[in-house]
Amino acid sequence: MIKIIKKKNYEEMSAYAAEMIAAQILLKPCCVLGLATGSTPLGTYSKLIEKYQAGLLDFAKVRSVNLDEYCGLSPEHDQSYHYYMKENLFSHINIDPDNTHVPNGMAQDMKAEGERYDALIASLGGIDLQLLGIGNTGHIGFNEPDSNFPTATHRVRLAQKTIEANSRFFASVDDVPKYAVTMGMTSIMSARKILLLANGVSKAEIIKKSFFDSVTPQVPASILQLHPDVTVVVDEEAGSLLP
Ligand code: F6R
Repeated sequence: MIKIIKKKNYEEMSAYAAEMIAAQILLKPCCVLGLATGSTPLGTYSKLIEKYQAGLLDFAKVRSVNLDEYCGLSPEHDQSYHYYMKENLFSHINIDPDNTHVPNGMAQDMKAEGERYDALIASLGGIDLQLLGIGNTGHIGFNEPDSNFPTATHRVRLAQKTIEANSRFFASVDDVPKYAVTMGMTSIMSARKILLLANGVSKAEIIKKSFFDSVTPQVPASILQLHPDVTVVVDEEAGSLLP
């Protein structure tokens, strides 16, 4: 079931998301959080850091698994998702670095890496709360439109639209990696709770398509219509085409 919550702006969307994540941690201090990168969750991460600094939240027992990583970027590369997580969340809170996991974009054998990552998620007992953004292709993680929903963690060729959208973080579009390693739909859909965030007018069309149109691998996020516990939080712009 999908619950859609419209907030006035990015600030309010982020505050709501941080409250949901904080509630999850309070409920189960050793919970497994599935985490996302990109622009969308930055405000949520800042609010979680504020709560930690105010003594309202303890990450000591929290475990985390990230959705994805670019292939060929080392953890030290400033556009890698390892680096992003350290910069924007992990280094500001008391999470144990050994309890944080991001797929290895440098792995030689991506099939083995996918199997390792899925086994790791299983060994943690699965994901309690999965945070998601959404790409303007409808991707969640880096699961791009395809003829079927990919299941396991796997290497994926990024859609040209995604490469162009993400080029804002790189010196030029040619510097954006063409491949990424991403959690597949099995791990995402097995999460006990899913929280998807979207802000800005550029996400309005895909939000409507994902949640008010048919379920199809051409719109990967549409699979979430089949999950029992999804909360979608949008700002006014991203929600502007919703009935
Ligand atoms: C990031 C991820 C992607 C992003 C999506 C939206 O880990 O999995 O699906 O959530 O590309 O990116 P932003 O938030 O930059 O618009």
